[in-house]
Amino acid sequence: MEKFLGKKKISILISGRGSNLKSLIKYSKTKNSLIKIVLVISNNSKAKGLKVASKSKVKSKYIKYLNKSNFENRSLKLLKKHKTDLVCLAGFMKILSKNFIKKLSKPIINIHPSLLPKYKGLNTHKRAIENRDKFSGATVHIVNDKLDSGKIILQKKIKILKSDTEKSLERKILKIEHKIYPLAIIKLLTNH
Ligand code: GAR
Repeated sequence: MEKFLGKKKISILISGRGSNLKSLIKYSKTKNSLIKIVLVISNNSKAKGLKVASKSKVKSKYIKYLNKSNFENRSLKLLKKHKTDLVCLAGFMKILSKNFIKKLSKPIINIHPSLLPKYKGLNTHKRAIENRDKFSGATVHIVNDKLDSGKIILQKKIKILKSDTEKSLERKILKIEHKIYPLAIIKLLTNH
């Protein structure tokens, strides 16, 4: 493995609950973690994730979503100011523009609760159950300017049981998300 020089500075964009944020904070605090979380940005002032950040003494900022370019320009300034090496989207429910991705010029990754390219967008568990799929799962991928697209870094599959409901599947997959997001970051940062 190539030698890793210092921790990478990660910024995390959220819109809601922040359970993936919590799992990334937990990973960042492990002894040999490769990351330091320098900033959390939320486009939603009521996001529970903002409380998760403040409880863990992670710096966070609410940026009001007036429109895409205003939000992106203000975010870009902050991300650069904090010398962000990698942006992680964790339940961030807006699509970033090509211009933002280009101007940031650092990798951006996202977690999504389905086996992409299946079920981009919302209601993934409902659609998987309605279609009687045998499997579902979670995916971490590189972000581009299209919804839930971009190269896959890591994907984990689970069986959908006959007894599963939208809620039970969501619970199981969320647990998987919390495991694979840190693993995907490690994979990306170590080129493995
Ligand atoms: C997670 O299930 C995440 O995969 C999903 O939103 C939830 C956020 O939960 N993201 C997407 O659907 C992105 N297209 P969290 O706020 O508790 O991490």
